[in-house]
Amino acid sequence: MKQKTILTAFGGASPEHEVSVITAHQAMAALSESKNFLLKPLYISKSGRWLTGDALLDLKNFENLKSLENMCTPCNFALNDFGLTVLREETKGFFAKSAETQIHTVLAAFHGSNGENGSFQGVCEMFNLPYTGSNVLSSAMGMDKVIAKKVCGSEGIPVVEGFDFFETDWAKNPDDFFAKAEELEYPVIVKPVHLGSSIGVKVAKNRSDLEQAIEVAFRYDRHLLIEKVISPLMEINCSVLGSGNSSEVSVCERPLGKEELLSFQDKYLAEEGTKGMAAADREIPANIPKKLTEQIQETARKVFRLLGCSGLARLDFLVDANSNQFYFNEINTIPGSFSFYLWKESGMSFPELLNKLIDNANEEHRLKNRQIQSYETNLLSKKAVTGIKGLKGTK
Ligand SMILES: Nc1ncnc2c1ncn2[C@@H]1O[C@H](COP(=O)(O)OP(=O)(O)O)[C@@H](O)[C@H]1O
Ligand SMILES: [Mg+2]
Repeated sequence: MKQKTILTAFGGASPEHEVSVITAHQAMAALSESKNFLLKPLYISKSGRWLTGDALLDLKNFENLKSLENMCTPCNFALNDFGLTVLREETKGFFAKSAETQIHTVLAAFHGSNGENGSFQGVCEMFNLPYTGSNVLSSAMGMDKVIAKKVCGSEGIPVVEGFDFFETDWAKNPDDFFAKAEELEYPVIVKPVHLGSSIGVKVAKNRSDLEQAIEVAFRYDRHLLIEKVISPLMEINCSVLGSGNSSEVSVCERPLGKEELLSFQDKYLAEEGTKGMAAADREIPANIPKKLTEQIQETARKVFRLLGCSGLARLDFLVDANSNQFYFNEINTIPGSFSFYLWKESGMSFPELLNKLIDNANEEHRLKNRQIQSYETNLLSKKAVTGIKGLKGTK
């Protein structure tokens, strides 16, 4: 059987760069168990360079990013002479021929901006490459906490009360926003709209806290969200796999943070630094009433469908522990560690999960390519162009 080249793409100009490196390495380790796949890494450095090479397959090399970059080869997507998309590696000599690798599927393992937000997915679309996970629009909606909440809220999915505003509006009249926040009543929570991993998220108990929290959050994003604080809070997550009309849902997890809200430390650094999201302290399956589990799982599938997602996602819910009222909080279209620990508990191994994700990417690609992509008309034929006035040489 011909081996399929899986291009694992990770890193990127994102505050979650390191977490992405861990997710990608966990996935490549799982994929390497199968003889069906040939693994090729595509690492995007923090400054945006596209690099490949075997040095990227050893996690130890990431301890010194500068020397790692020197061990790699710059690369990019290109169409070869046969019209096939390849990963083309730069060569040094003038006459040397560039190494080219034909890609079967791109395994997108980015977290956060510039990779999970639809931008990288757009590049794959331009090159007509099958890629895992959600498409451009769904990825972008998933990355925008305000849009995701608005779309879900408009379809009757419970979301926490709050409001959003831009830096330019805030600069003009901060008092308006203090007043709006105070209408929600303290404590409130301030969040950058496009970030993840709790970066820039802060609870404010009074006006001076609030002002400080807003100023800090604006360092990360021009668009902020302020919400009522759910307390006592219980967080419940679950993962959805598949596509809109046919999806399966994992068991629920209950992440357990030591701090007031789950921090970057709780999520990724609880044990050793190399386990990623799988290292965080959590209860799986979440020890909550069966009815609540089912309601959350059903809502997760509904949100996944509503946002047009495909592949895999982790959906995070906030639950008022007194009333068991739950709220959809956010969707992660490329969840840390691909949420493999949730699927393992649901009876699916990590390699099996990745196989399904790759199959899903190819099915989405096949369906997309089945539609008509171009028309056999030539609007720019000589006759048509002569009709356009004012252009040199077309009179
Ligand atoms: N409305 C809220 N009430 C109470 N805690 C919240 C609320 N929203 C978020 N949190 C806490 O803050 C953490 C980070 O917020 P979240 O919206 O998940 O952003 P991120 O994308 O950074 O993970 C959550 O995991 C939760 O612990
Ligand atoms: Mg979160």
